[in-house]
Parts: sequence; C-alpha cells; structure tokens
Amino acid sequence: MRTEDLPLFPFRSPDDDPFTPVTAADRARLDGPVTAVRLPTGGWTWLVTRHADVKEMLRSDAFSADLDAPGFPVLRKMSPSSPQNRRGSFIRMDGQAHLRLRRMLTAEFMIRNIARIAPLIDDVVDGALDALQAAGPPADLVAGFALPVPSLVICHLLGVPYADHEFFQVRSGILLDRDAPPPQVRAAATELRAYLGELVETRRARPGDDLISRLTTERVATGELEADELVGMALLLLIAGHETTANMIGLSVLLLLQHPGHLAALRADEDLADGLVEELLRYLTIVRTGLPRLATRDVEIGGHPIRAGEPAIALLSLANRDDEVFAGGAGFDPYRQAHQHLAFGFGVHQCIGQPLARAELRVALARLARRLPGLALAADPAKPATRDSSIVYGLAELPVTW
Ligand code: HEM
Repeated sequence: MRTEDLPLFPFRSPDDDPFTPVTAADRARLDGPVTAVRLPTGGWTWLVTRHADVKEMLRSDAFSADLDAPGFPVLRKMSPSSPQNRRGSFIRMDGQAHLRLRRMLTAEFMIRNIARIAPLIDDVVDGALDALQAAGPPADLVAGFALPVPSLVICHLLGVPYADHEFFQVRSGILLDRDAPPPQVRAAATELRAYLGELVETRRARPGDDLISRLTTERVATGELEADELVGMALLLLIAGHETTANMIGLSVLLLLQHPGHLAALRADEDLADGLVEELLRYLTIVRTGLPRLATRDVEIGGHPIRAGEPAIALLSLANRDDEVFAGGAGFDPYRQAHQHLAFGFGVHQCIGQPLARAELRVALARLARRLPGLALAADPAKPATRDSSIVYGLAELPVTW
C-alpha cells in the first residue's frame, strides 16, 4: 500500500452543500467500510464508516484514545508533546485514569441535574433573543445567539466569569483549528490553563455555587484531585461546552431555514423539538473528522483486521448516514427515529455533556422559532461561511433578518 495513492482525509463538503460530509468523488474512492486513507500530517489511518463497525470499535478495549501514543492519527502538525498542558483532559486518557476523572463529573451532568438548570437555560435563551430583537435586524445569528447561549450556560455552571468570554472563545477556537500553527496552539493552551488556574485559586479562597468551587472544596482540598488536573477538566468542559452546541445551533438554523415547513411545525408545537433535535444531531454530526484511536492489540472490526500499533478513525458522520440503520440516511427527516445516532460518540468516552446539549438545543430552537417567526437568511444561502478547518464543524457566521 503506497500512502501517496490513498484518498486524502479529512474530506470536505461539496461546494454547494455544507450538510453533506463528503463529495461523491471522495466517497467513491473508499473501497469498503474499513478503508485506508492518507492524513494531512503525512501518515495514514484506517477509516471506519459503518454504524455497526463504529460502535464495535468505540466499545472495544483494544483501542487507546491517548494522543501521545506513537502512531496515533493526528490531523494537524503537533508541537512536541507537553504532558503538563494535557493534565486532566480525560477525553485523551484510557482505562482507570480516564474513569477516575470522568466519575467526578458524572453526577453534575446527569439528566436530573440538568433538569434543575432548565430555568437558567430559558433565561439565557430569552435574554439572547431580547438583545437580538432590541438591536433589530439584520444580525449575525452565530455571534448574536448561537455562541452566547451555550457560552453563558457553561460559564454559569463552571463559575467562569462570562465577561471573559472573548478571551477564552478566541483561544478555544485556536485549539480546535487544524490549520493553526503549533506555537499558537501551545500559547493558547498555556494561557487558558493559566487563566483557569487563577480561577481555581480564587474559588478555593471564596467558593461559590458552581462546579469549579465544588471540585475545589470536595476533591482538591481532600487531596483526591490535583489543582492542575481540575484546571484540565475545566478547560475540557469550557471548550466542549460551548463550541459544539454553538455550532449545532448555527447549522440547525441554516438547515431549518431551508425547510420552512419544519420550522413552522416547531413553532406550532414545541414538543416536536425532541425528535427534531435528535435528527439534527444525526444529520449534522458536527464532529465531522471522527474519533481518532490507536489499536493497542490485534483486533477485527467488521471482519477487517487492524493490527496493534495501527491508527483508526471512527467516522461518525458517515456512520450516521448508514442506510442499514437510517433508511434514506442522506435525507433530513425530523419524523424518523434518529435516537440511535452516534453524534455523541459511543462507549466509555461517550459525551458527558449530552443532556445539557440536548436541553440547550431544544429550548434555543423552539424559542427562536416562536419569537422570530419572520426569520430568513440575509445572504446567499448557497455559500455559507463554514469552519472547515475546525475539528468541530460549524458556521463562521449566519446573516439573518426577520
Ligand atoms: C451538540 C453538542 C455536542 C456534541 C455533538 C458532542 C460530541 C462529543 C463526542 C463525539 C464525544 C466523544 C469523544 C471521543 O470519544 O473521543 C464527546 C465527548 C465529550 N464531551 Fe461532548 N459534545 C457536545 C456537547 C458537549 C457539552 C455541552 C459538554 C460539556 C458541558 C461536552 C463535554 C464532553 C466531554 C467532557 C467529553 C469527554 C468524555 C470522556 O472522554 O469521557 N460535550 N462529545
């Protein structure tokens, strides 16, 4: 197998369709459900694209999520690893080390705890809509709604002052940008950690009713958790907590404006939001570049051998369009049963924030539909500015009017 002959990954959308994750030409070059592709960093990886195979891979203990393991598939040039900059980031840890940190957060993100913050989510969404309406059309819905809603909510939950949102929004954008130069990525990580480190110290002295304060007093003070592990956990939540949901809101609105019938149905019946959000999660699958792993022993996925030391990427975006599970998977249909989608991943690393993301998406879309019934695109819908180089796919802006 010559690496230079393999199809290049990550794929891009067709020019005229931001919702389709791969062009027909690229798709035709994949010669099976587990295919080798070339990485922009020079190496290659297996790409796993079938729904059943992605589940099998993500539930298997034969794969590591540790970015530092030699041969791990990376989509951008990395600066030499700095373990200090990764401490606490359990999304890239395996086994007991991962479980130990994840368990400290499980209760915080359980559905019943998220239900308790429903009034906060309502207030944040209404506040953002009040501000939009007061300023009047036209507006950029990404900057004026999609970003502030999840950002305000996660700031409140963590105890991070929202006044600083520009500081961490810019830097988390850099951390997620595959095209950002390595020194810039390193600087962004160091600055964010320093910022959160100071916040942990502040909360240690003066605890509030928030997650960082709770973990500081209940875990750091007892010696169960080190302060820089808490910093890494908070950083992970801060980034995952606003970029993802923000991109889902922006793309969802663009898609719904192209399907005004579904938007009108939601306006008439807010209960439709549950099914609609699941189908949006499936159809948009914003973690487009998939979930990277490294095989730690010989294993078979979908009958295909993957050897110890070989890289593999679980391609959620294609798994979520697998016709075996979702009939006519390339089409958007809010009335289908989409709950088997893999947009939040699968297995031990499955998204811990999913109850929060779902709650935010339902309220944001339902309220937007109701309060801005005349919502329409203010620019050419065929050419939205997408963030192709980000690990989390989304819109750079969404000019709207109402
Ligand atoms: C629609 C929004 C979201 C999507 C599509 C999404 C998607 C994902 C995916 C695919 C993973 C699995 C990563 C892997 O296996 O390597 C993941 C993990 C994670 N997500 Fe989300 N996420 C969303 C919202 C959130 C929110 C709101 C939070 C936090 C408040 C969050 C926190 C996390 C964390 C901490 C992990 C790591 C879990 C672990 O490694 O055990 N996510 N997310």
